[in-house]
Amino acid sequence: MTELFQKVRGFVKESFHNNIAQMKHFDRTVHWVKVFKPDADEAFLIAAVGHDIERAFRKKEEMVKMYGNSFKSEEGLMHHQKEGAKIIEDFLVKNSAERES
Ligand SMILES: [Fe+2]
Repeated sequence: MTELFQKVRGFVKESFHNNIAQMKHFDRTVHWVKVFKPDADEAFLIAAVGHDIERAFRKKEEMVKMYGNSFKSEEGLMHHQKEGAKIIEDFLVKNSAERES
C-alpha cells in the first residue's frame, strides 16, 4: 500500500477511536475492491477505506433535525456522501496529495 493510503487509513482509524469492528469493515471494503478490481488505483483504495468517514464526525442531533431518524433517506445518504468526500478531501489537501492522478 502507498504511504498516502496508509496515512488515510491511519486518519480513519484515529477518527473512529481505533474501533476494531469499524476498521474490519473498512479493511474488508478495500479487500473486496481489490478482488473485484485488481487494477484499482490509489484513489480508488483511498475512497474505499474512507467511504464512511462522515459517520466518525456525524452530529446526530443535526442529522435528526434535517432528515428524521432515518439516515438512509435519499437526502441523508447524500449528506453522508458529500460530507465524507469533504472530510477526506481536506485530509488529502493537508497531506499534499496531488489533485490529479
Ligand atoms: Fe460502509
